[in-house]
Amino acid sequence: MSQLSTRHLLGIKDITSEDIRLIFETADNFKEVLNRPIKKVPSLRDITIANIFFENSTRTRLSFELAEKRLSADVVNFSSSTSSVKKGETLTDTVNNILSMKVDMVVMRHSSPGAPHFLSKNISANIVNAGDGTHEHPTQALLDAFSIREKLGDVMGKKVAIIGDILHSRVALSNIFCLQKLGAEVMVCGPTTLIPKHIASLGVKVEMDVKKALQWCDVANILRIQLERQQIKYFPSLREYSLYFGVNKKMLDQLDKEIVIMHPGPINRGVELNSDVADSEHSIILQQVENGVAVRMAVLYLLAGVR
Ligand code: CP
Repeated sequence: MSQLSTRHLLGIKDITSEDIRLIFETADNFKEVLNRPIKKVPSLRDITIANIFFENSTRTRLSFELAEKRLSADVVNFSSSTSSVKKGETLTDTVNNILSMKVDMVVMRHSSPGAPHFLSKNISANIVNAGDGTHEHPTQALLDAFSIREKLGDVMGKKVAIIGDILHSRVALSNIFCLQKLGAEVMVCGPTTLIPKHIASLGVKVEMDVKKALQWCDVANILRIQLERQQIKYFPSLREYSLYFGVNKKMLDQLDKEIVIMHPGPINRGVELNSDVADSEHSIILQQVENGVAVRMAVLYLLAGVR
C-alpha cells in the first residue's frame, strides 16, 4: 500500500492499521532526512498549508510548522487570540477566508470536539486534526506509538498504561485507538472521578492503583491534569493527587522490571510526574517530541497524495 485510505486525518478511529503502518514507514524515511546536514526535501513545494489554532499549543504547533517547512511547503499561521474571531467571525467564515487565498491543507486545533469533522464537510482542502477538545489528537497518538515502536522494536503485544486525567484527555482516546489497532494491550489508570464510566467497553483494562498499573505495563504514558477543562472539583487538591497518582523514582525502583516513561507534554512537574522520572533514563519524552516532526511530515506528505 502506498496511499492512505483517507484524504483527511480527523481521528485515529477513522483510519486503518495499514494507514498507521504506512505513516510509520514514511516517517522512518523522514527521520533519516532530519538527521542529515540538509534537513529539507522538496516534496510539498507547490502546497500551501494553513495552521489554524483556536487553542493554545507549544509542541504541536511548532512541530507542524517545522514539518511543513522541512517539506518545502508554503506556510501561514493563524491564532484565534489575535484574529477577527475576537470580533465575532464564525469558524466557517474564518476558514473560507483563509481558503480563498488558495490554501491546500488546513491543520486545525479547536476546543470543540468535531470541529475538524464539520470543516471537512464544508471545504475542499485536506484537514488535519491537531486536537479537538476532549475528543482526539491523532498525530500525538501516532508519534507516541512510533516512539514505542522505536524504543521496544514493535507495538504488537506491548502493555501500555495511560495514567492520569483520562476523562478530559484527547490524547488518551487517540492512543487507545492507535495502540489497539497495532495490537497492544491498553490499561487506563487514575482516580475514579477522572475515568469515563463506560471506558471498559473500548476493550481497555481499568485500574485505580497506580503501583499496580506500573507493575503491569511495559510503557507508562502519564497524562496531565487538565484543570482548564474541569468545571467542577474531581479530587481534593493537586497535592493529594500527586500523593496517590504522581509517578516518582521510588515507585520505579520498587518494580521488578524496567519500564518506559512517556508524557505528551506539557508536564506539570511534581504533580503527575516528578523530575527524577521525567529527566531519567527511563523517559523518552524528548524523543517523542523529536519523532513528532518526522511523523507529521509523513502525515502531510501522504495526505497531499490523496488530494
Ligand atoms: N502534546 C501537545 O499537544 O502539546 P501542546 O498542547 O503544547 O501542543
